[in-house]
Amino acid sequence: MSSDGRATARRLWVDLGTRGYPIHIGSGLIGDAELYRPHIGGRQVLIVSNTTVAPLYLAQVQAALAGFDHEAVVLPDGEQYKDLGTLNGIFDALLQRRMGRDVTLIALGGGVVGDMAGFAAACYQRGVAFIQVPTTLLAQVDSSVGGKTGVNHPLGKNMIGAFHQPRAVIADTDTLRTLPDRELSAGLAEVVKYGLIRDTAFLDWLHANAEPLMTRDGAALAEAVERSCVNKAEVVAADEREAGQRALLNLGHTFGHAIEAGLGYGEWLHGEAVAAGMVMAADLSVRLGWLDAADAVRARDLLARFALPVEPPPGIDADRWMALMAVDKKVLAGKLRLVLLRRLGNAVVTADFAPEALCGLLSDIESRVSD
Ligand code: NAD
Ligand code: GLY
Repeated sequence: MSSDGRATARRLWVDLGTRGYPIHIGSGLIGDAELYRPHIGGRQVLIVSNTTVAPLYLAQVQAALAGFDHEAVVLPDGEQYKDLGTLNGIFDALLQRRMGRDVTLIALGGGVVGDMAGFAAACYQRGVAFIQVPTTLLAQVDSSVGGKTGVNHPLGKNMIGAFHQPRAVIADTDTLRTLPDRELSAGLAEVVKYGLIRDTAFLDWLHANAEPLMTRDGAALAEAVERSCVNKAEVVAADEREAGQRALLNLGHTFGHAIEAGLGYGEWLHGEAVAAGMVMAADLSVRLGWLDAADAVRARDLLARFALPVEPPPGIDADRWMALMAVDKKVLAGKLRLVLLRRLGNAVVTADFAPEALCGLLSDIESRVSD
C-alpha cells in the first residue's frame, strides 16, 4: 500500500500510438477506483463475468465503480459457452439496459470472459470501450493484452473474432490465490513460452524461481506477470495484426491444438497441451540441428517443475497428428508452418524444415507413448 492507502502497482504501456494503453500489475488493484476512472468515458458500465468469478470478485469491482451507472451480466463458466449464443446474451443485456455508444464494458474473468467481452465491445454499435480485469494467470500474462477477441464456431476455435484493444488492463495478482492448481500451471506454460522464444534472462529467472511461483508467492507472481507482459507488449506493438513476429507467440500451439482437438476439447487445458507441444517443438528443433539438446532438456525440466505434461497423450498416431495439424491457422498455401527454435530465445515461423525430421519425431512419440 502507498501512503494514500491505495494499492501499489507496476505499470507498463502497450505502445500502439493513439490506441496505446496501460497494464497495471500488482496486489489489491481490483478495487482501486482510480485505475478504472480515467478509462471510462461515459456514465454507463457493463461488467461481464461468469458464475465462478462473479461471486469471488464482482463486489470489489462494483465498489470501485461507485458513482457510475453500472450493471453486470454473469455468463455460464466454460470454454463450451464461448460461442455466438452466449455472446448474444451480452448484446441482450446492453440493449435491454439501453446502453449507448459511450458505454464501457469490463471483462472480469479468465481468457474466455475476456475474449467474449472484448468481442462484444468490438461489435456493439460498431465498437465501444472495454477494460480487461484478468483473473487467471493465463489471462494476466497473455490473453488480456494485445486485442485478440472472439468466440468459437462449431467448426473451429476462435474462428469468429476481431482485433479490438482494451483501454486498460488491471491485473490484480491477489486473484491468483483462488485459482485451481491446474489453471496456475496452465498459465505458467505461457510464461515459459516468452522465455523460450525471446527472453533467455527471463528463462533463467524462471528456473531460479520455480518454487516460489508454484507456492504462489505474490512478489514472484507479480514479477512473472510483469516480465511476460513486457514481452507480449513489445511483440504486439511491433506486429499488432500478426503480419509477422506475433505468430512466434504460438510456440508449441500447432502441436498443442492437435492434442486438444485429438483428445476432445476440455480434456487437457490449453496450457497443458501447449507445454507438451513446446517440448515437441524443441525436440524437432534439436533434430534439425538448430537447438542444443541440453537446452531442450532444461526447458522440459522447467515445464515438469511447473507440474505440466511434457509428453503428448497416447492414442494419436502419426497420420492423425498430420491430419490434426493441417487445420492450423498458420498453414499457408497448403504448407504446414511451425514455430521452431533456431536456438534458445530465438524462434522462427517456418515451413522450411526437413519433413523426415517431423516424421521421425512423430513416430518416436508413437512408439514411446503407447496406450
Ligand atoms: P478460463 O477463462 O476458462 O478460466 C479458467 C477457469 O478458471 C474457469 O473455470 C474460470 O471461471 C476460473 N477462474 C478464473 N479466474 C479465477 C480465479 N481468480 N479464481 C478461481 N477460478 C477462476 O481459461 P483461461 O485459461 O483464462 O483462458 C482460456 C481462453 O483464453 C481460451 O478461450 C483461449 O482461446 C483464450 N486465449 C486468448 C488469447 C488472446 O490473445 N485473446 C490468448 C490465449 C488464450
Ligand atoms: N496469444 C497469442 C497472441 O496474442 O497473439
